[in-house]
Order: sequence, then C-alpha cells, then structure tokens
Amino acid sequence: MEKDFFFDKKQNNPISRVDGRAKVTGTATYAAEHKVPNLVYGFLVGSTIAKGRIKSLDTKSAEQAPGVLAVITHVNAPKIPGYQTGKDPSKPPTAGQPLRIFYNNEILYYDQPIALIIADSYERALFAAKLVKAQYEKEAHQTNLKTNLSKARIPSGPRKEDYNRGEADAYKNAPVKIEQEYYHPVEVHNPMELGSIIARWDGPDKVTVYTKTQGVESTRNSIKDAFKLNPENITVQAEHIGGAFGMGLRTWPYEIAAIMGAQKVGKPLKLVLHREQMFTNVGYRPETIQKVSMGATADGKLVGITHEATANTSTYEEFTEATVNITQFMYACPNVATRYRLVPLNVCTPIWMRGPGEATGAFALESAMDELAHELKLDPIEFRLRNHSDTDPEHNRPWSSKHLKECYQMGAEKIGWKDRQLQPKMVKDGDWLIGYGMGTGSFGAMRWVATVKGKLQPDGKLLLQCSVNDMGPGTATMMTVVASEAMGLAPDKITIQMGSTKLPPGPMQGGSNVTSTVGSAVHDVCAELKQQIAALASKTGSVFHKAKNPDVKAEDLIFSDNSIALKKNPSVKVSYIDLFRQNNLPALELTKESKGQEQPYSMYSFSVHFVKLRVHPATGRIKIDHVVSCADAGTIVSPKTAASQMIGGAVGGIGMALMEELVVDHRFGRPINNNLADYHVPVNADIPPIDVLFVNKKDPFTNPMGSKGLGEIALVGMAPAIANAVFNATGKRIRSLPITPDKLI
Ligand code: MOS
Repeated sequence: MEKDFFFDKKQNNPISRVDGRAKVTGTATYAAEHKVPNLVYGFLVGSTIAKGRIKSLDTKSAEQAPGVLAVITHVNAPKIPGYQTGKDPSKPPTAGQPLRIFYNNEILYYDQPIALIIADSYERALFAAKLVKAQYEKEAHQTNLKTNLSKARIPSGPRKEDYNRGEADAYKNAPVKIEQEYYHPVEVHNPMELGSIIARWDGPDKVTVYTKTQGVESTRNSIKDAFKLNPENITVQAEHIGGAFGMGLRTWPYEIAAIMGAQKVGKPLKLVLHREQMFTNVGYRPETIQKVSMGATADGKLVGITHEATANTSTYEEFTEATVNITQFMYACPNVATRYRLVPLNVCTPIWMRGPGEATGAFALESAMDELAHELKLDPIEFRLRNHSDTDPEHNRPWSSKHLKECYQMGAEKIGWKDRQLQPKMVKDGDWLIGYGMGTGSFGAMRWVATVKGKLQPDGKLLLQCSVNDMGPGTATMMTVVASEAMGLAPDKITIQMGSTKLPPGPMQGGSNVTSTVGSAVHDVCAELKQQIAALASKTGSVFHKAKNPDVKAEDLIFSDNSIALKKNPSVKVSYIDLFRQNNLPALELTKESKGQEQPYSMYSFSVHFVKLRVHPATGRIKIDHVVSCADAGTIVSPKTAASQMIGGAVGGIGMALMEELVVDHRFGRPINNNLADYHVPVNADIPPIDVLFVNKKDPFTNPMGSKGLGEIALVGMAPAIANAVFNATGKRIRSLPITPDKLI
C-alpha cells in the first residue's frame, strides 16, 4: 500500500469505499442472498379492501397447488406469544405496537397480508397466492387526508406539546407578512433492495434471521418481544443493505410472518416482498399539510412565525416526526408557535424517510422564507443572514458549532448567485426561463451508544467488530478511516466485521448518528490500544527502557504500519512483532463501550442547497442545470463517502421536489401507481452536475473526531431550493409537491 493512499489531514487523497469492490462485483451478500440449505419460499397475499373484516377465506386450491407446503391465515396461524399482551397505542412504533399479522379477521389497510403461501419455489408460491379467495364484510374506509382534517388530533405520545415562544401569532401585527399552505404527498422509500428475510429455526426456541434492517439489535428486540425468546437465542444478520432510507428502522409484519412460517413448516423460509408490496406494507413519508404564517419588519427582521402541520398516521399506531421542530430554532425570531396534529387513516403506518419530518418541515419553512423575502424585495440569502440565529433560540444556549454563514457564502459563489435577479422571470436562455433558488437544512447531531471490539495482531493487522450495519453511506469505510488515522495503519491492514447480533452492540443506522456514535467507539478502542502498547513499550527490558525512556505514553510515540517509534528520537523503535513476542502476547484485544456526554450546547448539522434550473414556458418542463450542496457537518471523516452521501441526498431531494407522489384511488383506498414505471424517481438523465462543498471545521463538543451527521442534511432543504428556483424562473409559486409540468402551465 502506498503511503499517499493514507487518509491525511489535508484530506486531498481520501480512501475509497472499502466494500466497493464487493458491492459492484456482486460478492457483497444481501438478506435474500444468503446460502441456506433446504429453503422454502413464502409469498404474502394481500387484502383487496382497506377496512372491514374477512368473512371467509377459501385456501383449498392454493393448498393443493403444486409445491405448496402450507397456507397460513388468521384461521390457522400459530399463536405468537407477544400478541397476547394488551395494545398500548402510546408506545412509539419501534417499541413495537405493530400490526399483528394473521391475528384476527380485521382489515386495517389495503394489501394487508391475509395469507402466507409457503412453497418449494418462489414461482409456485406466487402462483398459489392467486388461488386464495377471500370474502369480506366491507366497512367505509378513510384514506384521504384532505377530507379528514376534522379528525386531526393532538398526538398522545411524543410531540404532543405545542411549542410557544414569545407572543402567540405575533406575525399578525407585522408590517410585511405571508400566510400560506404547503402540501406534501405520500412519498415511498423505494430502495433498490426489496424487503427480504430468510428465517431459520435452529431449535424449538432458537432462531436465525437474515433480514433487511437498519439495526440488527432492534430487530432482535422485536423478535424477542413477539416470540418471547431469550435474546441470546436470536441471531440477526444484515451486513449490507441495498438502500433503505428509513424503511428498515423497524421490524415489519412480513418479517414476523416469515419467522412464523419457518416455524410452522420446520424449514428455513425466504420471503421477498413484491415491488408492489413495497408501496403498501413497509411505511412511507406521511402525507402532510402545513400552514406557515410569517411576518417581518420592513427592514427584514422576523417578527413572528406560526407553523402548523397535520400529517397522517395509521388507525392502529401513532407515528410522529419532527416536522415543525426546525422552525423552533432555525431563525432568530422572538415569537414562534408550532403545532403538530395527526389524522388516523386506513393505511399502513408511516415510517421515517430520510431527513424525516425535518425535510417536510423545511419545504414549508424555507418556501415561506423565500416568499417573505420576495415581499420584502430582499435577496433570500440576505434575509436569512438578517435573521441568523447566533445562539439556539429554542433552548437558549450556544451551538456546539455553526458555520451556516460560510455555507451560504461558498454555495452562492459556486452556483453563480450574482446572476440571479430579484424579480422572477427576468433571466432567459432562448425560450427557457432560468431560475436560482436556495434552501437551508438542519438536523440534530446525535451520538448514541456503541461497543466496539478491537484486536491488533503482531503483523499490524487490526480487526474491528460492531453490530452496526450499512445501508449505503459507507460505515465500514468510516470505521477504517478513523482507525487508520488513530493507529497509523494503512487502510488495507484494517478489517471490519459488522451487521450481526453476534458482534458487540452498535446503534441503528438512522438519524445520521453512526459516524458520531461508532466512529467515537472506534476512536476510543484505538486510543486504549495505543495506551496498552505504550505500557508494553515502557516495561523493564524494552527498547524504550534501555534507551532511558521509561514510562512512554501513547502521545510520545509515532504509530505506524508495523511498529512504534519515539517521537523525539524515531531511531528508538520496536516492531509489533518484537513487542508482542517479548510480552508473550498473541494479540492485543479489547472491547469498549462509548457514548456521548450531556453538553451545555445545542448540536446540529446545517446545510444549504443551491439550485439553478430552467423551465420551458410552453411545456412546463423543468430541467435542473446545477446543484450545489454545502454542509457544515464538522470534521469530514471520510471525504469520498461523505460526498457520495450528499449527492445521494440531493438526488432524493430532486425526487421529492419534482416527481415522487403516491397516488391513491380513494374510492378503493388503494394506490394506483404502486410500481416504478408509474411512481417516478429520478433517473440519471434527471440529475445535473452536483457540487458538494464542506466547511470541514471540527466541532469541539460532539465527539473525538469533531464530526456531525450528514445523511439527513443532504436532503433537508433541497426540495424548497428547487421550488424557490422554479418561482425565480417563472413567477409561479408551487406549494404542492411534486412540482410536475402541469402545475406550471
Ligand atoms: Mo434515516 S430516516 O434516519 O434511515
């Protein structure tokens, strides 16, 4: 390995994704790809009504179809011990109040599983699924948020408190004000990898699952709760995930069905959802209607903001997200009120989707900021600078770090903001109308708990183990970079093992926490390894001792690929091979738990997205010319994967702004465009050049690396940047996503 391949402080030669080759050559194993002998295959049959009861089920011909081993329905389903406990709707979804699959004849949403076919091949299971006949007692369903707003209620659990700072509805008395409503439809995660699980019982009370999850520990917990097993008897494995965007943040009923089915037939069972079932059974970003009222003084100082959001949940669970929270701290505004309401509908429960509520909330807030800037005849960046929150106005304390102003500045320069005109419809290129827009994003910089085990061998090879997994951002690469820098080891000397409950417990991959959480644990393991090495090196009889340097500390040493040397006299050195041999050690091994400390600071990442686009006035076609995404995410630990992460977020934001919408036929309570031909996501041709710029300044308080999360801020603020650019191009303010051509002509 060449030295210049090292991660260095200048970060001008960052390492590539350590599992990149495995992924592009197909050797990375995803949930459904594990080689498990004697597999049988499951396929779920879904209900064709959105609310009511199953009157009768005819499964005879399915049972007699070729290759079918069993058909499980609510009539014959094995008892799930965890289902017998009472319902507690106040518990958050991850704590487990899931739909109880095959529990009774009640139908709560369209395509709710009513039968599991188990056959000796996928095709035979699929064929038999078509033979199941169900009769229903239909009841009137409600799937339309807009016509059910009268049912809006205050959440009973998290986010039940309204937020009030200063005077209520102070915006009303401001000289310049806007009051607008913003709409976000249901958006579906649609990762490339389908929901998949292989479940295998290794004994009457012992199970192994390979499943698509963003957290093996949390999946193990859900299985423990449902099947009442000893957690030590549950193994969950999920090293690689083919995208998830949040849909893997909980255990879904299909996973419980697969485990139940494997138990019933006494064989390992593979269940892969059909793409259509990905639209109905594994969550989505909820439909949300928001009202933002905002007032400012004539010189552009915010007087008051009132932000209300009403989102849908299911009838059987309460899902909430931080839709209005961004408004509580983003700007230095004395009077802020936020309210959050839920409408239960006959649909599957929503789940977090990248930048969860913040992305929805930022669409409203950052569109409104643009609208008010326009009323004030102020440049939208200037308007934001005049209302920049130098400290956190919500919690009344300083930020751990905030470099948002630098993001505004470098992004504006890169996109060519100086060419933007204050009035819309002023810049043309032939027939095309050219527009510039920007939007701000933020997300909490969280650090949770992780345990990492490190094992350093005499040949300088380092093994790191943690149960955390990777849905794409490059967790193993990040861990490699942190260890490589800490230990002075070349990246290829470091091996990462992750994604299994057999390994020391790590966090879920969600909420942009993993670099902070697991990176810190890797850092702490390496720091202690170095101390132990220093202690070995100071022992009587060692080279250092003989060179009259007893009591060397880790700080006194240069750590490199296969040896340590004294900083003040590098000729005094010892190889790991000699050091370990002298101490009769086969390897150095240690395990450490690491977690953040409570700090008197507010910790957030910030981003600003800039967009230059063109709109054709005759067709309403929107073509994005250029995206510049700027992030203040503290130290950028792994520059290459971090930039990829930002690009992915921008692509997600483009989909959210211009294409994605689950269309529901409310007569039947079912989606119309439940496939990737009709539900549009951006393709390569939709994506312009995307420049990613990082402030890359260490946060002194978040963690030893000084990093802050990146996954969510890559998307939060992108959709309003596009909507604002569309306004600047056309003079048309589109407040209902997605901004499709029909809305512009
Ligand atoms: Mo993300 S919504 O934290 O997977």
